[in-house]
Amino acid sequence: MIVKEKNGEGFLDLRICDNLELMAEIKDNTIDLIYCDILYGTGRKFADYQDLKPIRSEIESHYIPRIKEMCRILKPTGSIYLQMDTRINHWMRCIMDDVFGYDKFRNEISWWYKRWSNISFGFQKMHDVILFYSKDKSKFNIQYQDYAKPNEIEDTVRGVIDGKLVRLKNEDGSYKKRETENKGVPLHDVWEIQHIQPTAKERLGYDTQKPKALIERIIRASSNEGDLVADFYLGSGTTAEVCKDLNRNFIGCDINPRAIEITLQRLNDALS
Ligand SMILES: C[S@@+](CC[C@H](N)C(=O)[O-])C[C@H]1O[C@@H](n2cnc3c(N)ncnc32)[C@H](O)[C@@H]1O
Repeated sequence: MIVKEKNGEGFLDLRICDNLELMAEIKDNTIDLIYCDILYGTGRKFADYQDLKPIRSEIESHYIPRIKEMCRILKPTGSIYLQMDTRINHWMRCIMDDVFGYDKFRNEISWWYKRWSNISFGFQKMHDVILFYSKDKSKFNIQYQDYAKPNEIEDTVRGVIDGKLVRLKNEDGSYKKRETENKGVPLHDVWEIQHIQPTAKERLGYDTQKPKALIERIIRASSNEGDLVADFYLGSGTTAEVCKDLNRNFIGCDINPRAIEITLQRLNDALS
């Protein structure tokens, strides 16, 4: 099935199919940004889909042909972000290095969240990993975060603002008033963003749904209005909705018909 929704001057193209089928239809060097929240290798049967097993040969036989296709269809100025957790990130990084090149690695972003978890042997697992690679010379829009709060810089007399070393406190120890508006400091690679809570308005009841705020950061950093963004593991359509909000064109698919049904519903709700 193909559903092509209008998005202002642009489009949102949604398919129910295996992502290999969709990628085979896309010409070389077409996509500006790929974001995929991939199968994590939990081996679990979720209500909506069956995950892969955490077995290296199974992970490689699923991902190697798909990552090669992603590399082929990405523009030379394009970027790719793959989200997973620590079960398979080491294998995925080797696959990405082999296909894109070790020198095309840009960041390993940690998405740090708080959640209830059972006591287990070892430290509580509280982050996902997002691997960011470029194809050749990718574009990048620097994102900013707030300065540390005054109590966190209590003992700091000097700090770097807009690339300049400045005094943060007056001679008498009081805090210096900032005269000029500033954007903050460039965003680092550990992102604290709330998981979708059980009562959140955003929650659609699709297993493993991700927060819009997380995907928004990626789309703002590595694409511009009118660019073409793709998600080949679409789930409940979070990436499609963010593209709609930010005036990006979108192409994506999911093998599960219910995923596309939920995506269409949320896009229509966002319109009304
Ligand atoms: C981790 S979930 C994505 C969740 C999504 N980010 C969201 O916010 O709802 C992965 C999705 O990939 C889909 N999927 C698994 N194998 C696929 C394949 N070969 N082609 C297309 N989609 C696939 C599953 O049905 C599932 O919806």
